[in-house]
Amino acid sequence: MTPRLSRRQAMEVLAGAGAWALVSGCSSSTSTAPTDDKPSPQSEVTSAQLESEVRDLHLRLSARAAEAEIVVGLSTSVYSFDAEVLDGDPASVTPSASYLGPTLHVHQGQRVKVSFENDLSEDCIVHWHGLTLPQDQDGQPGDAVAGGETYEYDFTVTNEPGTYWYHPHPHGSTGEQVYRGLAGLLVVHGDEPDLPDGDNDLPLVLQDRTVDADGQLLYVANRHDTMAGFVGDTLVTNGVAGFTVEVRREAYRLRVLNGANSRTQYLSWSTGEPCHVLSTDGRLLPETTSTAGVIITPAQRTDLWIDFSEFEPGQQIELLVADTFTESGGADLNLVGQVAARFTIIDSEPVPSVLPTTLSPTLPIASADAVNTGSPKQFVLSTRRAAHWINDTQWEGRVATEVETVTAGTVELWEFVNESPMPHPMHLHGNPFQVVSRAWDNDSLAQTWASLEHGIVEGGLRDTVLVWPGQRVQIAVRFAEHLGYFLYHCHILEHEDGGMMRNFLVT
Ligand code: C2O
Ligand code: CU
Ligand code: CU
Repeated sequence: MTPRLSRRQAMEVLAGAGAWALVSGCSSSTSTAPTDDKPSPQSEVTSAQLESEVRDLHLRLSARAAEAEIVVGLSTSVYSFDAEVLDGDPASVTPSASYLGPTLHVHQGQRVKVSFENDLSEDCIVHWHGLTLPQDQDGQPGDAVAGGETYEYDFTVTNEPGTYWYHPHPHGSTGEQVYRGLAGLLVVHGDEPDLPDGDNDLPLVLQDRTVDADGQLLYVANRHDTMAGFVGDTLVTNGVAGFTVEVRREAYRLRVLNGANSRTQYLSWSTGEPCHVLSTDGRLLPETTSTAGVIITPAQRTDLWIDFSEFEPGQQIELLVADTFTESGGADLNLVGQVAARFTIIDSEPVPSVLPTTLSPTLPIASADAVNTGSPKQFVLSTRRAAHWINDTQWEGRVATEVETVTAGTVELWEFVNESPMPHPMHLHGNPFQVVSRAWDNDSLAQTWASLEHGIVEGGLRDTVLVWPGQRVQIAVRFAEHLGYFLYHCHILEHEDGGMMRNFLVT
């Protein structure tokens, strides 16, 4: 295995598109011919073995106030992450074209140091969503630093290659800080099967914003926004409204992050093409899954594969997103989406590709391995007294009940029981899980679910799971070796800030 980070090419900004191409350059040394769908072997390599082969990376990352053009012709005050490579491959940071933080490129096994500077006038801390890290590297509310202060991270990336992200996590203001612009993609590179890379590997961060006539961002205005979750009136992709990108007549990998505060979205193509799903929450699926549309909750990621070779030059194809919000469910969902991103096919030689099928030989976590098979731990989600609750408790800092105490290295079955009238995307820090089953306590809500169920892709691992009202969702979690407190919470950021967040304690 050779270091790959240095093989990246320069960033390509596509003229007039307000877009940038993500550079991965991580072409696999174990590439397979298009007709040979055998996966590359993923050998069990320890982080120590990997570490010696990849050059360390040291970044300075700051959070600061800035101006951005979200809507054409308007200047908007935002918060923004800014990064600089202090030591390591300069291509590890690819800037965004708007308020979003740069995409950070790290490598499985790499030692990464980040000097985080909080240049805001409020507390902030950076969480690496999806990465498995020790407690003091996880970016938790308890580690938030005041404006003007810094936090030093120093960790080794042990996660599988895939799409992750970073965002702030100070308690009570995560929603507003993410909304003002603090978020960015984090791509873990490493050995993967032969997938589109380089210019054909594009980030798509889906968000929504309400921008007033003066160009300023409007956030939570009333109790409804806090209780239901804030929804912006304009779809913003990669930080810009009306996002358009030019693509060649080739296959692409689209790294989609739902970076919205509260919208659970249904993705589909304007042409009626199936969505070919490669990964969920950063990890490749065992096999590519093709569906008419894909559900993606806040914080979830999904990599889509699409071959533009059959389109004509000048043709456009749109990625549509429909909001699936429901309160007390029941009604049929309207899954006809609005345009989130427009792909314009440029005049180029068509290079048809074969859809990759087998992706990752990694075995999912087996529920049979759980220490509590047959008696899952219950986490009841409820809504009352103008708040959302987990087991009748709310945020209490670094505190864990008995049910929230787990043993490192074991697999446990957890069951989220949604007695609240609205869906909650539940996230666990640092410990990916397998969705085991869904059952119903309230059948009348199963009808709404039926219209979107085909878009639920859960054959691989996840770090965030949608729990529909009336539903019980069982997950099998393998707790990593890192001891200490780790968060689990609803990733509707207004719910999280409102206290729908707790810790589990790994002992
Ligand atoms: Cu995106 Cu506590 O996480
Ligand atoms: Cu997280
Ligand atoms: Cu919630």
